[in-house]
Parts: sequence; C-alpha cells; structure tokens
Amino acid sequence: MGLLEDTSQRAIRYIESLDARKVAPTPQAVAELARLRMNLPENPTDPKEVIEELDHIVSPATMAMAGPRFFGFVIGGSLPAALAANWLAGAWDQNSALYDVTPGTARLEEIALRWLITLFRLPSNCGGAFVTGDTLANFSALAAARHVVLARAGWNVESDGLSGAPEIRLIVGAEAHPSLFKSLGLLGLGRNRVVRVPVDGQGRMRADALPTLSDKTIVCTQAGNVNTGAFDPTKEICRRAHEAGAWVHVDGAFGLWASAAPSLAHLTDGVEDADSWATDAHKWLNVPYDSGLAFVRDSEALRAAMAVTAEYLPASLGHRDPSDYTPELSRRARGVEVWAALRSLGRLGLVDLIERTCRHARRFAQGLNEAGYEILNEVVLNQVLVSFGDADTTRKVIAELQADGTCWCGKTVWQGNTAMRISISSWATKDEDVERSLKAMLRIAARHSKR
Ligand SMILES: Cc1ncc(COP(=O)(O)O)c(C=O)c1O
Repeated sequence: MGLLEDTSQRAIRYIESLDARKVAPTPQAVAELARLRMNLPENPTDPKEVIEELDHIVSPATMAMAGPRFFGFVIGGSLPAALAANWLAGAWDQNSALYDVTPGTARLEEIALRWLITLFRLPSNCGGAFVTGDTLANFSALAAARHVVLARAGWNVESDGLSGAPEIRLIVGAEAHPSLFKSLGLLGLGRNRVVRVPVDGQGRMRADALPTLSDKTIVCTQAGNVNTGAFDPTKEICRRAHEAGAWVHVDGAFGLWASAAPSLAHLTDGVEDADSWATDAHKWLNVPYDSGLAFVRDSEALRAAMAVTAEYLPASLGHRDPSDYTPELSRRARGVEVWAALRSLGRLGLVDLIERTCRHARRFAQGLNEAGYEILNEVVLNQVLVSFGDADTTRKVIAELQADGTCWCGKTVWQGNTAMRISISSWATKDEDVERSLKAMLRIAARHSKR
C-alpha cells in the first residue's frame, strides 16, 4: 500500500506544480533522460525506487500538457473525475472485451455511448466503439463503410479481402486531416487513391465541386478543421451523396463536440444525416490519453467488420460485447473515464467547457488583432491562426514563446501562410491563463516585429 500512497502523492505534487513550471521541459531536464539509458538490470529493484526514479527523471522532462497553458495541436487535459476514474480503472485492470466477463466496465461503456449519442444528436440506435483515438475511430467507422459498400456489390471483404474486389471511390476534402489517409492506408483503400475536393479559404469542402457519386463511393467530410476549426457543409454533402446511394463519414475529432453546445450547434448542421462519425474523447472531453470514439448508423455494419467468434470466448446474450465493435480484442476499459467525465460535468458542465474554451479563443484573437497581428482564420471554434509577419518572423516568435515557457503553441502553414496555432481545449485554462499567455505572446512578438 505504501507504494500506491507514495505514488498518488507524487502525482498530486506533479499536478499542483503545473501552474508554476515552464510548459515545455527545460533542455537540462531533457538531458537528464540520459540517466535512463542502462542495460536491463539483472536483479529486481524495489518498486518504490522504480517510481522514485521515474518521478525524479521523467516528471521534469514531460510537456505540461495537463496544465492550463498548453495550446499546441488539439490537446485536452484530464478532468479530476476522469483522472481519478483512470486510477481506479487501473486498479481494476479489466480486459473489457466481453460483457459476461467484465460486466461493470462493459455496462459503463453502454451507458456512456447512449449519453454521447444523445449529446451529438446522432440516430438513437446507432452503434459505437471506444478506441484509442480519432485515427482508429476513422479506421473503425470506415471499416464499416467498406463492409457495406462492398456487401452491396456482392463482395464480403472480411472473408475475401480486397484483391479482386469491386473498386471503392473515396472522396475527401483537400484539407482533410493527414491521419485520415493513414486510416485509409490501413484499410487497404490507399492513401493516394482518393479524389480531393477543392476547399474554400477556411478549408471547407466545396459541395458544388463534388464529383459524380455512386453507391460505391465513400465521402469523408470534416467537422472541425485542425487549423481553422471550420466545418464542411455536411447537410448539402449528405443530400447529394445519399441521392446517389453513397456513404458519408464525418471526421469530427474535436468539432463533433460543438453539437453539444447550443450556441455552436449550427456549425454541425447536417452532421446527424451522415452514416458514420469519428471523434476523440482525449481532446475536448478532457479524459486522459488515449480515448477515441467511432459511431455507425448501422450498428450491424460495425459489428460485421469487427466481431470475432471462438469457442473459448463466451458471447454475451442481450448485452453489448465491447470488442465486437473494436479493432482490438483485448482492450482497456476506455469507457470508464468517458463515463466519469460526463457524469461529473453533466450536460451543462460540458456545454460550459466547450463554450468557455471557444470564448478563450476569441479573446486570444481579439488581443492579437488589436495589437496589429493578422488572424488568418474565422475564429468559429477553439482554434486561432495568427501571423506575426513573414514566415521567418512568425517562426522566431513561436520558437521564443516555446522557450519562454509561459505557454506552448505550435507552428503550421495554412494555405501558404506560416502561422502560429493556438488551440484551446483544456478544462483547466482560466481567464488569467489567457491574459498571461497573451501578454507573453505580445511581449515576444514586439521584439521581432518589423512593422
Ligand atoms: C480533424 C482531425 N482528424 C483526426 C485527428 C487525429 O486524431 P488522433 O491523434 O486522436 O488520432 C485530428 C487530430 O488533431 C484531427 O484534428
């Protein structure tokens, strides 16, 4: 017991230190990682010593992603209830594949799925899967799409593979997330065998530029572009696609959560008309890594793509076996933290989290704009793109801001323009954090400004 108590104290100290420390690890802390380089010890080590070593060497070398001022990529922190549930679930150590074997965690997943389907306003009987992240959520939902499109053409892809199968045509927006192509490659659909539809200045697919669609087409739309936060016109795309019998998938890694917030729900108009959806819980819901979610209107299609049967694996009658819907058989119970996050926030708490982070984004945009820096996107969600001048100046400001350590923002190139990305997804970010970070940005930018 002493070990677990000691470790929980260390974890608490770590969390409490996040506000005061530099967001990025110092070069010295990273250099200290060299102390881990050793041959596998021949003899056992006291677990307490192992944890002490881990904490001393690795805690300072972490990026403060769980803290209030990490604005890189699209990264949520960990809500207290979600982190605590993660600790408890670690102690349970459930291999949550089958309801009959792990009923507690399987039941939590069933309940969390129902809640999510309601929040996202998806069809009430659609199927879902808890997976590692949005890349695998896209993979899982598109595996169901592949199953249906080929089954309609008389081909069983799970049994017979893709060699000799009827051709599937994939349509994506020109600003689709790079990980979507990875998912397509894993599915044997080819990273490059896609038709890219032109987009507008915010990265939204132009519905008027869609090519001819058929019942062998899968259209991948996006709810929330990683750079701008913009949404494809999914309603119009669904209308055209469904007229032709095509499948529509929505990659909503973070944008899907906007449907839970009344003030933002207009952005997701038509998303509910699609056939499948992918999102992350480790982004805007703020559960610990890793946690993604796939939803498929026809739950049997997802099951057909994923389920395995064997004499030694008891099929649960009348209940959902989690692994019937996921690429993994053995799997950790990801639904536990999702359930705990939603249970602790309630619907209104979630709405507040989503709307608050969007408000922070607008404040960043306003403060930077007032100081004369160009905001490159329409700030409709929680993403801000800012240019500090030419590409070189913007890169220098970003590098200096990262080294300064007040906050952390990354770089991107948006439609030819180098920009700093500010992505606000953490429950922990407060107004003071935004003001403090804004001040650091303006202080550093002023030193480099050529205006
Ligand atoms: C639109 C979109 N799709 C997919 C991904 C990949 O998500 P993950 O890293 O959770 O697999 C991201 C990540 O930011 C994203 O923004």
